Amino acid sequence: MTEPKELTETETAPAVPFPATRTCPYHPPTAYRSLREGPPLSRVTLFDGRTVWAVTGHARARALLTDARLSTDRENPDFPITSARFKALTFRRTALLGVDDPEHNAQRRMLIPSFTLKRTAALRPRIQETVDRLVDAMVARGPGAELVGDFALPVPSMVICALLGVPYEDHDFFEGESRRLLRGPTTHDVTAARDAINDYLRELIGRKRAEPGEGLLDELIAQRLETGGTDVEELVALAAILLVAGHETTANMISLGTFTLLRHPDRLAELRADPALVGEVVEELMRFLSIADGMLRVATAPIEVDGTVIRPGDGVVFPTSVINRDATVYADPDALDWHRPTRHHLAFGFGIHQCLGQNLARAEMEIALGTLFERLPGLRLAADPDAIPFKPGDTIQGMLELPVTW
Ligand code: HEM
Repeated sequence: MTEPKELTETETAPAVPFPATRTCPYHPPTAYRSLREGPPLSRVTLFDGRTVWAVTGHARARALLTDARLSTDRENPDFPITSARFKALTFRRTALLGVDDPEHNAQRRMLIPSFTLKRTAALRPRIQETVDRLVDAMVARGPGAELVGDFALPVPSMVICALLGVPYEDHDFFEGESRRLLRGPTTHDVTAARDAINDYLRELIGRKRAEPGEGLLDELIAQRLETGGTDVEELVALAAILLVAGHETTANMISLGTFTLLRHPDRLAELRADPALVGEVVEELMRFLSIADGMLRVATAPIEVDGTVIRPGDGVVFPTSVINRDATVYADPDALDWHRPTRHHLAFGFGIHQCLGQNLARAEMEIALGTLFERLPGLRLAADPDAIPFKPGDTIQGMLELPVTW
């Protein structure tokens, strides 16, 4: 047996930029080709010139995402940062996704009851109502709409406001601030958005303590805050991550999912002929689009992988667009095909940080896409597909705009 060795940069192939801009909004960036063809562990270069590990093999990714030696602690000075504007957030408190066990587990347990399949199923009529109202409004104004602003973003925004018990009158504020938080463009935008969201939530919690209402925040105030099980700052951090994590991701899946189906007319015809397929369609779209294209970790102890050592302090990234197209797991991985077994994709992550909102996200996507194509049978793009802007090099992928007509 050979000794595990520490790989130096000169021994590896030229590093690939991470995150790279996609060439087509629904395929992995062409810059990742060598990652797809190479070993399950490669090197990539971040915007600041730092080189980190990229895990690209499906089995290897599942093993490492459940390895407690990889941390999500964003306060660790070695935590990998993917863009200049996110640098500003590094030393700020992020609940759940920014903490390791046991603190993570304690926070997650507070929220689990609100995200079970049963609780999510109970929200379906409300989601359907929201979606119907938005389609009614588009029909009344149309034909013609900008689907991101008119539909894809308001759906998750209304749903998360309802779930948390945030007054819907404030949804413009949230949409605006969470966009600014995730997209910047400047560092100042990112910190100012984060502060604005936190200030708003702090004030809302104060108001709700005086005058309880209905929603997850009210439940947490009654069951945890008033009993000393948590403090206001932790509650603010939890509400903020829910608000942000559930917003842009789901909106991007709805807009990019619509674009992708419109670009695959044969597949879309099949869905239109059999609307009951929508659950399988959504699952395959999750795999195919892999919009959360870069989970981030930092090693806190040496980890040996196939004779290579990831050292403490090394950054590790998981490009899901590559992992979810591992040809050893998915035959013909670049084809959109919901007849394959799509389960076990890592588009919602894996391990202790696996998406808490996945049941809710699935319900929103199924209802949004199902209703859209049923109510608007003539739905089509209203612009040259190559001219429609999508998000440049980022770890969350999606359309910036989606002009459609019917
Ligand atoms: C289609 C939409 C969504 C996608 C693609 C998505 C994707 C992900 C991924 C990949 C992770 C794991 C990140 C990592 O391990 O580094 C994650 C975690 C998380 N997601 Fe989602 N998500 C979606 C919707 C939602 C919704 C609707 C909510 C809540 C309302 C939500 C709340 C969360 C939370 C709280 C975490 C952190 C969980 C933890 O650290 O324990 N997500 N999501």
